[in-house]
Amino acid sequence: MAIKTVAVLGAGTIGASWAALFLASGRHVTLFDPAPDGEELARAAILRAAEALQALGWSKAGDLAALRFTRDPAEAVREADWIQENAPERLDVKHALYRQIEPAMAADALIASSTSGFKVSELQAGLSDASRLLIAHPFNPPHLIPLVELVANGRTAADAISRAEVFYAELGKVTVTLRKEATGHIANRLQAALWREAIHLAAEGVASVEDIDKAVAYGPGLRWAALGPTSLFHLGGGAGGIENFCAHIGGPMESWWRDLGAPTLTPEIVALLAAGMEEAKGNATDADLAHRRDALILNYLRAQRELDASDEA
Ligand SMILES: NC(=O)c1ccc[n+]([C@@H]2O[C@H](COP(=O)([O-])OP(=O)(O)OC[C@H]3O[C@@H](n4cnc5c(N)ncnc54)[C@H](O)[C@@H]3O)[C@@H](O)[C@H]2O)c1
Repeated sequence: MAIKTVAVLGAGTIGASWAALFLASGRHVTLFDPAPDGEELARAAILRAAEALQALGWSKAGDLAALRFTRDPAEAVREADWIQENAPERLDVKHALYRQIEPAMAADALIASSTSGFKVSELQAGLSDASRLLIAHPFNPPHLIPLVELVANGRTAADAISRAEVFYAELGKVTVTLRKEATGHIANRLQAALWREAIHLAAEGVASVEDIDKAVAYGPGLRWAALGPTSLFHLGGGAGGIENFCAHIGGPMESWWRDLGAPTLTPEIVALLAAGMEEAKGNATDADLAHRRDALILNYLRAQRELDASDEA
């Protein structure tokens, strides 16, 4: 285990979840968060994540002995081999944090930012040595969802991506690497494209918010969890694969593309979505929805792991 100590900067939704996974994997974690109740909230979130992490086979899940909390970001990074930055999604906040930590970083430590939308070059502008930063964007919650999107550029240290690939693979993550930077990386752009059309369908009165969500969760969403859209359409093309699929379905597909909507989040549309969610939830609480999401994802991950193990055997 080359990376033994991780500094986690910002212990909100994403930082606390990362910290739970790093601890569960047997690493030391130094946590920094400036909020007065930052430590308390982070500890509670780490403990909440423990059950799922135990179920995924991380025997140290919930053991807080290797966790240290500090109110000084420079102190947090001094001993760290890896720095996972999860500060709020504001460039001025992230840059100010980098200025505080850069002088204290160990010689070969790297900053991996969890940013959902900023480009590497935008983040690097806050450092005097741009080689020390890459993006490692997780999906919420990072202790559960395997995907980590890696982004570096010509100024990032040459071995940053390979070091990140090894580190996140040790944590059970699946990494993808962008060949060039793009706002929102890969997966958030795809989510944005799908959600835009979901909103358009609701706003046009084609179906209820509930039915649009069901159409994803009980249909293509199940397939997408197994294979990506191009692989699925390749299978859909039969023996002729994706070329056959494009020859036969490509024309209609292009006509659907031309018909897709481009809504904006006006107050009326936000109100429509909120009312649609209330209707969809019925008597269920948000906690019920979150439980259903996490329990089903956990079972899916277990099934995936069993299948991978039997394929290797
Ligand atoms: N929430 C998501 O679904 C999601 C998913 C992937 C990535 N991200 C990214 O992760 C990062 C954190 O997002 P979040 O959802 O955890 O936000 P959050 O608001 O839940 O947490 C942010 C934390 O940062 C702390 N903070 C405030 N100022 C700080 C500073 N100067 N230095 C360090 N910490 C500071 C806050 O006290 C808070 O605990 C963002 O860059 C976001 O884009 C979020």
